[in-house]
Amino acid sequence: MTAGIQPVSENPGGEVATPRHVAIIMDGNGRWASQRGLPRSAGHKRGAEAVREAITGAVKAGVGYLTLYAFSSENWNRPADEVMDLMGLLKLYLSREIRSLDKQGIRLRVIGRRSRLSRDINEMIDKAEEMTRDNRRMTLVIALSYGSRDEIIDAARAIATAVVEGRESIEAIDEARFESALSTHGLPDPDLIIRTSGEQRLSNFLLWQAAYSEFLFLDTLWPDFTEETFAAAIEEFQGRDRRFGARP
Ligand code: FPP
Repeated sequence: MTAGIQPVSENPGGEVATPRHVAIIMDGNGRWASQRGLPRSAGHKRGAEAVREAITGAVKAGVGYLTLYAFSSENWNRPADEVMDLMGLLKLYLSREIRSLDKQGIRLRVIGRRSRLSRDINEMIDKAEEMTRDNRRMTLVIALSYGSRDEIIDAARAIATAVVEGRESIEAIDEARFESALSTHGLPDPDLIIRTSGEQRLSNFLLWQAAYSEFLFLDTLWPDFTEETFAAAIEEFQGRDRRFGARP
Protein backbone atom coordinates (compact mmCIF):
# COMPACT_ATOMS: atom_id res chain seq x y z
CA MET A 1 0.00 0.00 0.00
CA THR A 2 1.29 3.47 -0.85
CA ALA A 3 1.12 6.58 1.32
CA GLY A 4 -2.17 7.84 -0.15
CA ILE A 5 -3.92 4.49 -0.10
CA GLN A 6 -5.11 3.88 3.39
CA PRO A 7 -7.83 1.51 4.43
CA VAL A 8 -11.13 3.11 5.44
CA SER A 9 -11.76 3.36 9.17
CA GLU A 10 -10.71 0.40 11.29
CA ASN A 11 -13.43 -2.16 11.52
CA PRO A 12 -12.80 -4.30 14.59
CA GLY A 13 -16.43 -4.79 15.58
CA GLY A 14 -17.42 -5.87 12.10
CA GLU A 15 -19.54 -2.75 11.50
CA VAL A 16 -19.52 -1.46 7.98
CA ALA A 17 -16.77 1.07 7.36
CA THR A 18 -17.42 4.72 6.60
CA PRO A 19 -15.36 6.19 3.76
CA ARG A 20 -12.65 8.50 5.11
CA HIS A 21 -12.68 10.68 2.02
CA VAL A 22 -15.57 11.37 -0.34
CA ALA A 23 -15.06 13.52 -3.44
CA ILE A 24 -17.90 14.89 -5.52
CA ILE A 25 -18.13 16.12 -9.11
CA MET A 26 -21.10 18.46 -8.79
CA ASP A 27 -22.75 18.36 -12.21
CA GLY A 28 -26.14 19.30 -13.65
CA ASN A 29 -26.74 22.87 -12.47
CA GLY A 30 -27.37 24.08 -16.03
CA ARG A 31 -29.81 21.26 -16.87
CA TRP A 32 -31.65 21.78 -13.59
CA ALA A 33 -32.17 25.44 -14.53
CA SER A 34 -33.13 24.83 -18.16
CA GLN A 35 -35.71 22.22 -17.11
CA ARG A 36 -37.39 25.07 -15.20
CA GLY A 37 -36.94 27.72 -17.86
CA LEU A 38 -34.48 29.54 -15.58
CA PRO A 39 -31.07 31.04 -16.38
CA ARG A 40 -28.01 28.87 -15.66
CA SER A 41 -27.11 31.24 -12.83
CA ALA A 42 -30.23 30.05 -10.97
CA GLY A 43 -28.95 26.49 -11.24
CA HIS A 44 -25.56 27.47 -9.82
CA LYS A 45 -27.28 29.34 -6.97
CA ARG A 46 -29.29 26.25 -6.05
CA GLY A 47 -26.10 24.26 -6.50
CA ALA A 48 -24.42 26.34 -3.81
CA GLU A 49 -27.32 25.45 -1.48
CA ALA A 50 -26.80 21.77 -2.27
CA VAL A 51 -23.19 22.23 -1.13
CA ARG A 52 -24.55 22.87 2.36
CA GLU A 53 -26.59 19.65 2.16
CA ALA A 54 -23.52 17.66 1.13
CA ILE A 55 -21.47 19.08 4.00
CA THR A 56 -24.17 18.29 6.55
CA GLY A 57 -24.51 14.80 5.11
CA ALA A 58 -20.76 14.25 5.30
CA VAL A 59 -20.51 15.50 8.88
CA LYS A 60 -23.43 13.29 9.93
CA ALA A 61 -21.88 10.26 8.24
CA GLY A 62 -18.57 10.86 10.03
CA VAL A 63 -16.57 11.36 6.85
CA GLY A 64 -13.16 12.91 7.54
CA TYR A 65 -12.58 14.63 4.20
CA LEU A 66 -15.04 15.96 1.65
CA THR A 67 -13.69 17.29 -1.64
CA LEU A 68 -15.95 19.28 -3.95
CA TYR A 69 -15.10 20.06 -7.58
CA ALA A 70 -16.38 23.64 -7.72
CA PHE A 71 -14.53 25.04 -10.74
CA SER A 72 -12.29 23.18 -13.14
CA SER A 73 -9.40 24.60 -15.15
CA GLU A 74 -11.60 23.99 -18.23
CA ASN A 75 -14.47 26.02 -16.72
CA TRP A 76 -12.47 29.18 -17.53
CA ASN A 77 -13.57 28.57 -21.14
CA ARG A 78 -17.24 29.18 -20.31
CA PRO A 79 -18.83 32.50 -21.32
CA ALA A 80 -17.46 35.39 -19.26
CA ASP A 81 -20.80 36.14 -17.57
CA GLU A 82 -21.11 32.55 -16.34
CA VAL A 83 -17.53 32.59 -15.01
CA MET A 84 -18.38 35.84 -13.23
CA ASP A 85 -21.54 34.31 -11.76
CA LEU A 86 -19.61 31.32 -10.43
CA MET A 87 -16.85 33.50 -8.97
CA GLY A 88 -19.50 35.72 -7.37
CA LEU A 89 -21.14 32.69 -5.79
CA LEU A 90 -17.82 31.48 -4.46
CA LYS A 91 -17.12 34.86 -2.90
CA LEU A 92 -20.56 34.89 -1.35
CA TYR A 93 -20.00 31.38 -0.07
CA LEU A 94 -16.61 32.23 1.41
CA SER A 95 -17.92 35.36 3.09
CA ARG A 96 -21.16 33.86 4.43
CA GLU A 97 -20.36 30.27 5.28
CA ILE A 98 -16.92 30.35 6.84
CA ARG A 99 -18.14 31.17 10.30
CA SER A 100 -20.65 28.35 10.15
CA LEU A 101 -17.98 25.91 8.91
CA ASP A 102 -15.69 27.02 11.71
CA LYS A 103 -18.40 26.55 14.33
CA GLN A 104 -19.00 23.02 13.04
CA GLY A 105 -15.31 22.22 13.47
CA ILE A 106 -14.66 22.05 9.74
CA ARG A 107 -11.29 22.93 8.26
CA LEU A 108 -11.23 24.48 4.79
CA ARG A 109 -8.57 23.79 2.23
CA VAL A 110 -8.54 24.96 -1.38
CA ILE A 111 -6.70 23.13 -4.16
CA GLY A 112 -6.12 24.31 -7.72
CA ARG A 113 -4.24 27.00 -9.64
CA ARG A 114 -4.69 29.88 -7.22
CA SER A 115 -2.75 32.25 -9.50
CA ARG A 116 -5.69 32.40 -11.92
CA LEU A 117 -8.12 33.54 -9.20
CA SER A 118 -8.65 37.21 -8.40
CA ARG A 119 -6.76 38.83 -5.58
CA ASP A 120 -9.87 39.27 -3.39
CA ILE A 121 -10.83 35.59 -3.71
CA ASN A 122 -7.25 34.61 -2.87
CA GLU A 123 -7.34 36.82 0.23
CA MET A 124 -10.67 35.33 1.31
CA ILE A 125 -9.30 31.82 0.86
CA ASP A 126 -6.15 32.63 2.88
CA LYS A 127 -8.26 34.07 5.68
CA ALA A 128 -10.68 31.12 5.70
CA GLU A 129 -7.88 28.53 5.66
CA GLU A 130 -6.11 30.33 8.48
CA MET A 131 -9.27 30.73 10.58
CA THR A 132 -10.19 27.04 10.32
CA ARG A 133 -6.72 25.47 10.37
CA ASP A 134 -7.05 23.83 13.80
CA ASN A 135 -10.48 22.31 13.15
CA ARG A 136 -10.47 18.53 13.19
CA ARG A 137 -14.03 17.32 12.75
CA MET A 138 -13.86 17.30 8.97
CA THR A 139 -11.74 18.83 6.22
CA LEU A 140 -13.65 20.42 3.37
CA VAL A 141 -11.49 20.60 0.26
CA ILE A 142 -12.74 22.89 -2.49
CA ALA A 143 -11.17 22.30 -5.90
CA LEU A 144 -11.08 25.68 -7.60
CA SER A 145 -9.48 26.39 -10.94
CA TYR A 146 -8.37 22.79 -10.52
CA GLY A 147 -7.20 20.41 -13.19
CA SER A 148 -5.51 17.14 -12.38
CA ARG A 149 -3.16 17.23 -15.36
CA ASP A 150 -1.99 20.72 -14.33
CA GLU A 151 -1.44 19.39 -10.83
CA ILE A 152 0.59 16.41 -12.04
CA ILE A 153 2.69 18.63 -14.35
CA ASP A 154 3.37 21.07 -11.47
CA ALA A 155 4.47 18.16 -9.27
CA ALA A 156 6.75 16.77 -11.99
CA ARG A 157 8.29 20.21 -12.49
CA ALA A 158 8.91 20.72 -8.76
CA ILE A 159 10.61 17.35 -8.43
CA ALA A 160 12.61 17.78 -11.66
CA THR A 161 13.83 21.17 -10.43
CA ALA A 162 14.97 19.65 -7.13
CA VAL A 163 16.86 16.94 -9.04
CA VAL A 164 18.48 19.39 -11.47
CA GLU A 165 19.55 21.59 -8.58
CA GLY A 166 21.09 18.56 -6.86
CA ARG A 167 18.78 18.65 -3.83
CA GLU A 168 17.23 15.25 -4.59
CA SER A 169 18.22 12.06 -6.36
CA ILE A 170 16.21 10.34 -9.09
CA GLU A 171 16.26 7.12 -7.04
CA ALA A 172 14.41 8.86 -4.21
CA ILE A 173 11.38 9.56 -6.43
CA ASP A 174 8.67 7.16 -5.37
CA GLU A 175 4.88 7.32 -4.94
CA ALA A 176 5.14 8.99 -1.54
CA ARG A 177 7.50 11.67 -2.89
CA PHE A 178 5.25 12.28 -5.87
CA GLU A 179 2.19 12.59 -3.63
CA SER A 180 4.01 15.08 -1.45
CA ALA A 181 4.31 17.37 -4.48
CA LEU A 182 0.60 17.24 -5.36
CA SER A 183 -1.83 19.88 -4.12
CA THR A 184 -3.64 17.14 -2.17
CA HIS A 185 -0.51 16.30 -0.11
CA GLY A 186 -1.43 14.98 3.30
CA LEU A 187 -4.98 14.01 2.29
CA PRO A 188 -5.93 10.35 2.06
CA ASP A 189 -6.96 9.22 -1.43
CA PRO A 190 -10.72 9.44 -2.01
CA ASP A 191 -12.47 6.19 -1.12
CA LEU A 192 -15.56 7.23 -3.02
CA ILE A 193 -16.02 9.60 -5.96
CA ILE A 194 -19.59 10.64 -6.72
CA ARG A 195 -20.67 12.35 -9.93
CA THR A 196 -24.18 13.67 -10.30
CA SER A 197 -26.35 14.27 -13.40
CA GLY A 198 -25.86 10.92 -15.11
CA GLU A 199 -22.51 11.73 -16.74
CA GLN A 200 -19.92 9.01 -16.29
CA ARG A 201 -16.44 10.51 -16.55
CA LEU A 202 -13.72 11.98 -14.34
CA SER A 203 -13.22 15.27 -16.23
CA ASN A 204 -9.64 15.85 -15.10
CA PHE A 205 -10.48 15.39 -11.41
CA LEU A 206 -8.06 13.69 -8.99
CA LEU A 207 -6.60 11.41 -11.68
CA TRP A 208 -3.65 10.25 -9.58
CA GLN A 209 -5.62 10.08 -6.35
CA ALA A 210 -8.49 8.05 -7.86
CA ALA A 211 -6.33 4.95 -8.50
CA TYR A 212 -8.40 2.80 -6.12
CA SER A 213 -11.52 4.91 -5.61
CA GLU A 214 -15.00 3.51 -5.90
CA PHE A 215 -17.19 5.44 -8.34
CA LEU A 216 -20.85 6.25 -7.96
CA PHE A 217 -22.73 7.90 -10.82
CA LEU A 218 -26.09 9.34 -9.84
CA ASP A 219 -28.84 10.60 -12.14
CA THR A 220 -29.72 13.29 -9.58
CA LEU A 221 -28.91 16.80 -10.84
CA TRP A 222 -26.60 18.59 -8.39
CA PRO A 223 -29.14 21.21 -7.18
CA ASP A 224 -31.40 18.31 -6.10
CA PHE A 225 -28.64 16.69 -4.04
CA THR A 226 -29.58 16.46 -0.35
CA GLU A 227 -28.26 15.10 2.92
CA GLU A 228 -30.36 12.00 2.21
CA THR A 229 -28.71 11.56 -1.19
CA PHE A 230 -25.37 11.62 0.60
CA ALA A 231 -26.52 9.06 3.17
CA ALA A 232 -27.76 6.74 0.39
CA ALA A 233 -24.40 7.08 -1.40
CA ILE A 234 -22.57 6.03 1.75
CA GLU A 235 -24.83 3.04 2.10
CA GLU A 236 -24.14 2.04 -1.50
CA PHE A 237 -20.37 2.38 -0.86
CA GLN A 238 -20.65 0.17 2.19
CA GLY A 239 -21.99 -2.64 0.04
CA ARG A 240 -18.93 -2.55 -2.24
CA ASP A 241 -16.12 -5.07 -1.99
CA ARG A 242 -12.75 -3.29 -2.10
CA ARG A 243 -9.62 -5.32 -2.64
CA PHE A 244 -7.01 -2.81 -3.81
CA GLY A 245 -5.88 -5.29 -6.44
CA ALA A 246 -5.42 -8.14 -3.97
CA ARG A 247 -7.25 -11.47 -4.05
CA PRO A 248 -10.18 -11.95 -1.64
C1 FPP B 1 -21.67 21.83 -13.10
O1 FPP B 1 -22.93 22.14 -13.62
C2 FPP B 1 -21.32 22.70 -12.00
C3 FPP B 1 -20.34 23.64 -12.02
C4 FPP B 1 -19.51 23.91 -13.21
C5 FPP B 1 -20.05 24.48 -10.88
C6 FPP B 1 -20.27 23.90 -9.51
C7 FPP B 1 -20.57 25.05 -8.64
C8 FPP B 1 -21.47 25.06 -7.63
C9 FPP B 1 -22.21 23.88 -7.20
C10 FPP B 1 -21.80 26.32 -6.91
C11 FPP B 1 -20.73 27.00 -6.19
C12 FPP B 1 -19.85 26.12 -5.35
C13 FPP B 1 -19.50 26.41 -4.08
C14 FPP B 1 -18.48 25.56 -3.38
C15 FPP B 1 -20.10 27.52 -3.33
P1 FPP B 1 -23.03 22.52 -15.15
O2 FPP B 1 -23.15 23.99 -15.24
O3 FPP B 1 -21.92 21.92 -15.94
O4 FPP B 1 -24.40 21.83 -15.50
P2 FPP B 1 -24.85 21.23 -16.92
O5 FPP B 1 -23.88 20.12 -17.24
O6 FPP B 1 -26.23 20.70 -16.63
O7 FPP B 1 -24.83 22.35 -17.90
